[in-house]
Amino acid sequence: MVGPWLSGEKINLRPLRDGDAIRRVGWLNDPQTVKLFTGSEPVWVYKRVDAERWRQTLEAGRLAIVWAVETKRHQHIGDVDLHNMDRRAGLARLTILIGDKAFWNCGYGTDAIKTLLRYAFSDLALESVGLRVYGFNKRAIRCYEKCGFTRVGVAPEPGEICMTVSKERFFVENPDASAVHT
Ligand SMILES: CC(C)(COP(=O)(O)OP(=O)(O)OC[C@H]1O[C@@H](n2cnc3c(N)ncnc32)[C@H](O)[C@@H]1OP(=O)(O)O)[C@@H](O)C(=O)NCCC(=O)NCCS
Repeated sequence: MVGPWLSGEKINLRPLRDGDAIRRVGWLNDPQTVKLFTGSEPVWVYKRVDAERWRQTLEAGRLAIVWAVETKRHQHIGDVDLHNMDRRAGLARLTILIGDKAFWNCGYGTDAIKTLLRYAFSDLALESVGLRVYGFNKRAIRCYEKCGFTRVGVAPEPGEICMTVSKERFFVENPDASAVHT
């Protein structure tokens, strides 16, 4: 599904546009980013058709919602999605890629996730959002912890960590989290 426009403090989340795919192609051919995102060195060239397929799959399904992450100056710096949504159980999983490295460590990822979670817990009435992250990805783990995620359970793949945040914990940890429909 296509997500609604959401506004955070530093970012907007907006529907993807046709021109966005080429940036994702650039991001997912960067070896450092690929390692952090997939856990291994790049083994194949990520092509425009892959980005288009990724978008179409998420937008066509009823179990996923995808957004572009853009700065307040409308620069597209990454993508974020909810997937494996189970509205009855109140569960979903989150994936984020801030692909433009110039924007790492500046709070954009944290703001994008908080904005998404506010929407997920308020408008979608989800109860819990989970994710998987590689243990060596300290920046991502710190970012997720700032959003209220904690480590849980056993990782399905070696080196991976499972994290989750409940609606209750999110609003206790982030009473001022902002997500405004624009
Ligand atoms: C992971 C990602 C979403 C985080 O977004 P971001 O905007 O860079 O992160 P933020 O600035 O919001 O927060 C990062 C935090 O990690 C900290 N950090 C950075 N490197 C760190 C390290 N090596 N060890 C510990 N903390 C670290 C930062 O200081 C910051 O914490 P602080 O605000 O307390 O100082 C983004 O960097 C990204 O998409 N990276 C590439 C792909 C990726 O890793 N995706 C996640 C896959 S699970």
